[in-house]
Amino acid sequence: MSRPLRIGIAGLGTVGASAAGILQRKANAIVPKAGRSIVVTGVSARSRGKDRGFDLEGIAWFDDPAELAASDEIDVFVELIGGANGPAKAAVEAALAAGKHVVTANKALLATHGNALACLADASGLAIGFEAAVAGGIPIIKTVREAASANTINRVFGILNGTCNYILTRMEEEGLEFDECLKDAQALGYAEADPTADIEGHDSAHKLALLASIVFGSEVDLNSIYLEGISAISQEDLRAADELGYRIKLLGVAQRTEQGIEQRVTPAMLPKSAPMARVAGVLNAVAVDGDAFGEITMVGAGAGGDATASAVVSDIVDIARGRFSPALGIPAESLTPVSRSGMQAHAGAYYVRLNVYDRPGALAGIATRMAESGISLESIMQKGRGETGSQTPLPVTIITHNTMEEHIREALARIEADGHIEGRPQMIRIEKA
Ligand code: HSE
Repeated sequence: MSRPLRIGIAGLGTVGASAAGILQRKANAIVPKAGRSIVVTGVSARSRGKDRGFDLEGIAWFDDPAELAASDEIDVFVELIGGANGPAKAAVEAALAAGKHVVTANKALLATHGNALACLADASGLAIGFEAAVAGGIPIIKTVREAASANTINRVFGILNGTCNYILTRMEEEGLEFDECLKDAQALGYAEADPTADIEGHDSAHKLALLASIVFGSEVDLNSIYLEGISAISQEDLRAADELGYRIKLLGVAQRTEQGIEQRVTPAMLPKSAPMARVAGVLNAVAVDGDAFGEITMVGAGAGGDATASAVVSDIVDIARGRFSPALGIPAESLTPVSRSGMQAHAGAYYVRLNVYDRPGALAGIATRMAESGISLESIMQKGRGETGSQTPLPVTIITHNTMEEHIREALARIEADGHIEGRPQMIRIEKA
């Protein structure tokens, strides 16, 4: 049997401690799967004294993660520090320069520097395993990078952030306020160190950028993703969605269109009958549309120590077996720039909510503006009735038939300028399930 594979882990937070614990507890069971034993020989973290639930005996301690990364005591460097730059980037570069394979859960790092790091790894025949970076325990990277080889993929989409899904689910099911749900998500360890990365959609965008690169053979290009978070979603939207037969989810979508590749992270309305609409709480889900295998949907834990560590360990086992492809599926030098299709060209149906002053001609004016922009309406619903002449606006919800984003934006700008509504219009895209 081959000599043991020696692992250095930098970052002993929830995921790092879980990964080290699994490798110790399941050491014997892993040997036949990996073809050799896997041993943690070095670690690096901020504070040495903490009890992290695994045995540090015999494991070398490094204060500097880059020193661990380049150390002769390891074969594989596992980066679980996080952050797009700083110590995580320095350590991963040091590992690749020293000829060590890398395993990471760091989507921010790869979404920002993935092309350059993949070039470095490819040049030395090294692996960068990042199954843990996208949708936690769901093996979606392996699926799109290896299992989908026979397919032309037209769309990959999913619920890629557990914190947002948890917040939206609790707001919808329990009528709770956004802030209360966010606090609970933080207490449960789902949220990023800075939760704005979750709620403003950046975390989902990092994951989508990696998926899109593999699926479309293009460079990782975070800047080509259109982004909207969930902080503007209100109880009124959730209630209206429910009445209209939809659920609101933060979706990451990358799809091939006639104009190019459209990539977006936005709140979206999914019909309640869609499988992904039923994915609740902290769970993630990813669906892949391929021309050969049809649609595959995977659902599972997208955050949390053991689920994410499970993906880390699976990458380590692949490296132990010598099973790895170029980090982004094809050699980094063959990746093409993204042929981007902007949001103005997005085609689909829309939900619109307006606070309309209750006066004669207001609804007719709104319908006229929609018609002038070539938009056909599926439904228009006004709730409640104010006193005649009252200045209190009433909510009006509209569902459109398929149109283009440039048309809906044009119509909403004109409606706003007409003075029939209070505040800004709310607009949510309806996703084809
Ligand atoms: N904060 C992330 C989430 C953790 O909520 O999904 C995994 O990336």
